[in-house]
Amino acid sequence: MQVSIIAAVAANRAIGKDNDLIWKLPDDLKFFRNTTMGHYVIMGRMNYESIPHKWRPLDGRANVIITRQKDYTAEQVDVVNSLEEALEIARNNKEEEAFVIGGGQIYQLALELDLVDVMYLTHVHEEFEADVFFPEFDESKWTKEIIAEHPIDERHKHAFTIFKYIRK
Ligand SMILES: NC(=O)c1ccc[n+]([C@@H]2O[C@H](COP(=O)([O-])OP(=O)(O)OC[C@H]3O[C@@H](n4cnc5c(N)ncnc54)[C@H](OP(=O)(O)O)[C@@H]3O)[C@@H](O)[C@H]2O)c1
Repeated sequence: MQVSIIAAVAANRAIGKDNDLIWKLPDDLKFFRNTTMGHYVIMGRMNYESIPHKWRPLDGRANVIITRQKDYTAEQVDVVNSLEEALEIARNNKEEEAFVIGGGQIYQLALELDLVDVMYLTHVHEEFEADVFFPEFDESKWTKEIIAEHPIDERHKHAFTIFKYIRK
């Protein structure tokens, strides 16, 4: 099973503020939806709770929440106490590509444990004030290809480029 991270990251690595996303980029959200559709999406408890009620669990995808709490419950999702446990559930259900969808603590955990094969990173070409950041990683350990470039337009206040990073 391939383990993939998907994230949108600012030029200063910002990814979130006040437990919310910082920007509105509908075409990037569309990329996120299309790429993860039909797959396992694994997320931290904070990230799960940041998703508006009407959008969670994320539709068409098996949602897994990671928490240290032993009694945490949420409807129509799996709740686990470790990233390894989350990946085990996906593997046992014959998943081919499981997505780690954040937030900051869970990206950090996945990279620290060296569990990640692929990263779909949307680079948003601006710096933002934030309280959660994407972890530093060693670029030399990854090859990088461009998937799409998007300019500023009437629906997107910020330009962005979507990259696929593949672990060497
Ligand atoms: N730009 C993007 O692509 C993107 C994507 C996703 C999220 N975000 C943003 O990221 C922010 C949320 O990220 P975050 O770092 O604050 O929180 P998070 O990673 O979503 O969740 C943190 C929670 O995960 C659980 N956890 C962490 N490490 C664990 C471990 N080793 N074992 C078991 N459980 C563990 C804990 O839950 P308990 O406290 O319940 O124990 C912890 O509070 C929001 O602002 C969100 O909008 C941005």
